[in-house]
Amino acid sequence: MIIYNEQAKTYTLHSKNTTYQMKVWDYGVLLHTYYGPRLRDGDLSCLLRRKDRGFSPNPNEAGGSRTFSLDTFPQEYSTCGVGDYRLPSIELELPSGSRTADLRYVGGEVRRGKYGLEGLPAFHGSAEEWETLSIVLRDAAARVEVELLYGVLEEYDLITRAVRVKNVGGEPVRLCRCASLCLDFIRSDLDLITFNGAHVMERCPSRAPLRPGIQSVDSVRGASSHQHNPFVILCDRDAGEEHGLCYGAMLLYSGNFQAAAEADQFENARLVMGLNPYQFAWTLEPGGAFTAPEAAMVCSPWGFGPMSRQFHRAIRKSLIRDPWADRRKPVLINHWEATEARFTADRLAEIAQEAAALDLELFVMDDGWFGARDDDNAGLGDWFVNEEKLPGGLGALVERVKALGMSFGIWIEPEMVNEDSELYRAHPDWILNVPGRRPSRGRNQLVLDFSRQDVREHIYTQIKTVLSSADISYVKWDMNRSLTEVWSPALPANRQGEVYHRYVLGVYEFAERLHRDFPHILIEGCCGGGGRFDGGMLYYTPQIWCSDNTDAIDRLRIQYGTSFCYPVSTMGAHVSAVPNGTTGRLTPMETRGVVAMHGTFGYEMDLSRCTPEEKEVVRRQVARFKAHYDLIQDGDYYRLSDPFRDGPYTAWEHVSRDKREALVSLVTGPFRGAPPFLSLRVRGLDPALRYRVNGGEIYGGDALMAAGYPLPMFSGDYQSMQLHLTAVDA
Ligand code: GLA
Repeated sequence: MIIYNEQAKTYTLHSKNTTYQMKVWDYGVLLHTYYGPRLRDGDLSCLLRRKDRGFSPNPNEAGGSRTFSLDTFPQEYSTCGVGDYRLPSIELELPSGSRTADLRYVGGEVRRGKYGLEGLPAFHGSAEEWETLSIVLRDAAARVEVELLYGVLEEYDLITRAVRVKNVGGEPVRLCRCASLCLDFIRSDLDLITFNGAHVMERCPSRAPLRPGIQSVDSVRGASSHQHNPFVILCDRDAGEEHGLCYGAMLLYSGNFQAAAEADQFENARLVMGLNPYQFAWTLEPGGAFTAPEAAMVCSPWGFGPMSRQFHRAIRKSLIRDPWADRRKPVLINHWEATEARFTADRLAEIAQEAAALDLELFVMDDGWFGARDDDNAGLGDWFVNEEKLPGGLGALVERVKALGMSFGIWIEPEMVNEDSELYRAHPDWILNVPGRRPSRGRNQLVLDFSRQDVREHIYTQIKTVLSSADISYVKWDMNRSLTEVWSPALPANRQGEVYHRYVLGVYEFAERLHRDFPHILIEGCCGGGGRFDGGMLYYTPQIWCSDNTDAIDRLRIQYGTSFCYPVSTMGAHVSAVPNGTTGRLTPMETRGVVAMHGTFGYEMDLSRCTPEEKEVVRRQVARFKAHYDLIQDGDYYRLSDPFRDGPYTAWEHVSRDKREALVSLVTGPFRGAPPFLSLRVRGLDPALRYRVNGGEIYGGDALMAAGYPLPMFSGDYQSMQLHLTAVDA
């Protein structure tokens, strides 16, 4: 519910459990007054105190009054160069060369439904579920209007934000910074949690108290990156899974971003999140407009668990698009770790046959099927079937796989080109590269200039032809390097600051075309694993390969970190062979299956190499995953332990919405002598109900949550266990 109080000049956004408020204050400055647990209606501006503070300037309109300063009040969308010295949200370069922005309130409008963003990913849904607030601010001198957009998804406590900037003057203006979210707090005793890592070790949480000054994470790699995820949390210093106030903020963007938190001189905090201002400058011609990507926030008064569950529900129901919001996704087999790019059609058919016999549903042909591709040095850009490898073309292999009762999927990497390719030989000027420089290589490949429509068109036509040529039901869209030498011949010198963002817009346009032309195809995003795992890509690709690291024990950490924002149903997770290709670690097949069920579930190995006993384990795993599909993919998710603490086990749980069913999963660490007697306290059950565990003994929900389930004495390293709980009371 969004309420405008005309007298108090407050806009109050209520969700089921939270309240957010802003107020039009003196001189039309829009101040932020509150975000936190749900309150009754009222004006929270009593929290804002007027005081003359040294070196905090006063706006000219204040005359002799010294108690109003942009530097001391919490701002709704911070400005630049006119008295607020903290993190700016917007920076304009005017024809005079000045770089200031001063925004004052013009008006606001509340309407039912959710605003949309042309060419950008965004949460969506019906007019019953959503409300929109649009606030218009204006910089009179710059003749620029800024529209702040807010969407409220009441049921899931989700507040989305986006920003549109319009040049309403007669001269071009350059936008040098345009954040999507600014969130001020009248306190700075907060912890900042960010999700960081590297290729093969993504989204590991890092938590630290805010200290005076700015702490930030960002990406300048052209993709949201393995190194830092565009999702952060600010929380009470003692916040945990089940207690403490916390604020999660995600950016729906797949390119350069920045998330920065500042603790200021008076112990206030500010979070600013959005496009990275690094090498960014966007020219707004008279009448021109720019839209900043969407951000989304959830505030939880009860710790991280409820925050994550609200993000999960909102992402599953209102970010993932039809038909994949509700459609069941297949259990897949991918041959990459078994063969890499050297394979024949017969070899693939063999792998598919083994998988079909174990009830897998989708065969994915990974990298190596096109052009002259036998390894990662050649062929990217030539999206036509290599008939030496696949005699009779794609159709012949697809039919062989379909005859086994499986559907067929294919790998692509549309944004890239190898120098050793027909495409590069014909169009060496289609890559991102700076005149006079020689382009850096990454994985021996170059980046196509996806900011250019003609380049995208050529690649799209090729890929569309392939996808239309056979019965394909899944695509894995990969992106295997970071951007360098970002310059495009399609833009004049003074507009090169647009290339990074136009590249991402090009990716989104390409993805939107795929979605439109092939709505039945499930697209799995990938960027050397999880290098572009963000809310932006999830709008187009309902699942994303979580990491190239398939080691079950490292995956416990990667998937744990990922789960703070993103639901299990979006995390690509497979069982692979041991010793693991990344870590060399040995883990039991059963454990690898339990860990991969914390995701979309599939296999990435040559199952014909398995012993009959291992195959039996696989068959049972597949059956178990299918039996619990709805519970795992759609249930409420609980983290039961933190794998970064090196405790005796890592555990998590899926609970049905009616709390009558739950699946608890647990993986032990390396074995240690003289193990203690352990019990596992589960969460989210109905304390009044009794539950049967794995079809056997009955325990009270209250006892399972308060006292715990007595764990068996495990022996050996990395053992696992799953408990299926079903309510026995009516
Ligand atoms: C990336 C992906 C892998 C695989 C290879 C193929 O590394 O993350 O899963 O598809 O590319 O080259």
